[in-house]
Amino acid sequence: MANKILQESTKLANGVAMPVFGLGVWKSSNAEAANSVQVAIKNGYRMIDTAKQYGNQAGVGYGIQKALKDNHLNRKDLFITTKVFNGDQGYQSTLDNFEQQMKELRLTYLDLLLVHWPVDATYVDTWRALEKLYKDGRVRAIGVSNFDEEKLETVLAAGTVMPHVNQMEFNPLIQEEKLFDYMNGLGIAMEAWSPLGGGEALSDPAVTAIAERHNKTAAQVILRFDYQMGAITIPKSAHEERIIANSQIDDFDLSDEEMAAIKALNQEKHSIWYDTFAWHKGVENGVKDEVSTWDDHDEYMNKPVQ
Ligand SMILES: NC(=O)c1ccc[n+]([C@@H]2O[C@H](COP(=O)([O-])OP(=O)(O)OC[C@H]3O[C@@H](n4cnc5c(N)ncnc54)[C@H](OP(=O)(O)O)[C@@H]3O)[C@@H](O)[C@H]2O)c1
Repeated sequence: MANKILQESTKLANGVAMPVFGLGVWKSSNAEAANSVQVAIKNGYRMIDTAKQYGNQAGVGYGIQKALKDNHLNRKDLFITTKVFNGDQGYQSTLDNFEQQMKELRLTYLDLLLVHWPVDATYVDTWRALEKLYKDGRVRAIGVSNFDEEKLETVLAAGTVMPHVNQMEFNPLIQEEKLFDYMNGLGIAMEAWSPLGGGEALSDPAVTAIAERHNKTAAQVILRFDYQMGAITIPKSAHEERIIANSQIDDFDLSDEEMAAIKALNQEKHSIWYDTFAWHKGVENGVKDEVSTWDDHDEYMNKPVQ
C-alpha cells in the first residue's frame, strides 16, 4: 500500500489535479533514470519531473512505458513534467522541439510543460508557444521555472493564460517567502526543486535533532517541512531505499515550534541563478548552456518494452 502522500494532489488554477509529491531525475543517465522511474512507480509514485537539459528523456520514456506495463497502469494515472531547453527558446523552435521531446518521452500528451529558465530575449515568445500547446490540448498545464516576481508579471501582462506552476529552488535554506506569498495571492502553485537542500541542510543540527525526536531521517524531516509549507516536491534519488523512504512522511507532523526552528535556517541563497548562464553574462564570457549528453541515449530511444 503506497504512502498517502503519493496519492495526494492539489488543484491547479485550471482545475487539473497535480500530485504533491514526485520524483526528480536531474544528473541521472538514461539507464539510471529508466530504473529510478520504474522503482518509483512500482512504489506508488505517480509524478516524474525531467527536462531536455538533463539528457535523459529517452530513459524516462522507456521507464514510464515499462512501469505502466509491469504495474498494469494507464497513462492517465501518471503526471509527467518536462521543460523547454534554454537553447530551444523562442516561439517556433519551442513548438518544433516539443515534438522531439514527446518522441523521446514516448508520450502523446504532457501533463505539465515548463519554461526551464527565463532567457531574456525569448521567454515571452516561449510562453506564447506554451499557450498554443495548451490550447491545442498537447499539454494539460503550463508553467515556468526560476521566474521571479518581475518575470512573472511580464508573462502575466503579455500572455492570455496564467502560469499554473512556478518551479523554484525551495528548501530550508531558501524559502522564497516574498515570491511564495505573491504566487499564493495569484493562485500559481509553488513546486520545489532541490527540496532536500543538499548536505548543508541535511546535516544541520536543528534538523537532525527534530529527526531524532520523531525517529525519522533528516531527509524525511526536510521533505515534511516543504510539504507543510505548501510546496509540491520532487526529490531525486537513484537509490531504491531512498526513493521509498523519502515518501514516508505522512505518519508524523512537525509542530509550530519545529517549523519555526527550520524556518530560521533560511538564507535566501540560490545555488544556481541567472548569472550562471551565458544569456546573462554574454556568450563570449559565459557558461555555454548545453544538454547533458549520456552515451546511452540511443540505446534507450530504441529499446523495446517487453
Ligand atoms: N527547474 C530547475 O531549474 C531545476 C533545477 C534543479 C532540479 N530540478 C528538478 O528537481 C529535482 C530535485 O532537485 P535536485 O535533484 O537538485 O535535488 P534534491 O532532490 O533536493 O537532492 C538530490 C540529491 O540528494 C540525494 N538524496 C536523495 N535522497 C536522499 C536521502 N534520503 N538522504 C540523503 N541524500 C539523499 C541524491 O542522491 P542519490 O541519487 O545518490 O540518492 C541527490 O544527490 C531534480 O532532480 C530535477 O528534476 C529542477
